[in-house]
Amino acid sequence: QEENISPEGGFSFDGPLGTWDTQQLQRGYQVYKEVCAACHSLKYVAFRNLEDLGYNEAEVRAEAASWNVPGLDPNTGEATTRPGLPTDQFPSPYPNDIAARAANNNAIPPDLSLITKARKDGTNYVYSLMLGYTEPTAEDLAKSPDFTTPEGLYFNEHFYNINIAMPPQLRDGLVSYSDGTPATREQMAEDVTAFLTWAGEPSLIHRKQTGWWVLGFLLFATGLAFLSYKQVWAGMK
Ligand code: HEM
Repeated sequence: QEENISPEGGFSFDGPLGTWDTQQLQRGYQVYKEVCAACHSLKYVAFRNLEDLGYNEAEVRAEAASWNVPGLDPNTGEATTRPGLPTDQFPSPYPNDIAARAANNNAIPPDLSLITKARKDGTNYVYSLMLGYTEPTAEDLAKSPDFTTPEGLYFNEHFYNINIAMPPQLRDGLVSYSDGTPATREQMAEDVTAFLTWAGEPSLIHRKQTGWWVLGFLLFATGLAFLSYKQVWAGMK
């Protein structure tokens, strides 16, 4: 398994001063919706959470309604689908795991809500995985002459098992961004990874900012403690 790579210049949310780039999160959402959602659910995220990405209430309602979620027919009680509401969560494209396996060479596409948390260095991992569809090098093959990629699996140097059941997803121009950003593979990989990082920890930036406030408070408290120490011992020689 190859070491993770990161986008050039890193992610906007990296480091103690990082912030979300909401334009980027919207593009990443578009990639998730148009590409990944064909196979992956996002079951811990509700449509109303999209407000974080800068959509207003009406936009969220319209966005939710553009998805079909599982529901029951009010008359017959039978399982059916209905347009989503802001309170619904992103649905799974498959009715159950058996259907998921049947469509994916016996592998289940995992729910992506927490994927950037579930994998080590998850954000860079997802980015790397999206761009990791290469060929084994001559050196690799010299080391493992018996290595093959079975039918229905794909070589990906960032996957722990090397051969992954997910086909390569990104090619240049796959989506057409409404903000005009050119949809290169790297751009889409970065955007969808940013979106999935937000999905896994929407409060990431808030947490970092709280840290600064806490540090400021501790500094202030230290100052007070020092002054009261001076005060208490002022009369002693
Ligand atoms: C696995 C991301 C689109 C099928 C995965 C994994 C990630 C991922 C992070 C987990 C790898 C791991 O377990 O460490 C994405 C993203 C997509 C996308 C970001 C959109 C850009 C798709 C699509 C399909 C698919 C459209 C179906 C055609 C699968 C399958 C697995 C998988 C079957 C399990 C692979 C295995 O265990 O061998 N995907 N995926 N993915 N994905 Fe996707």
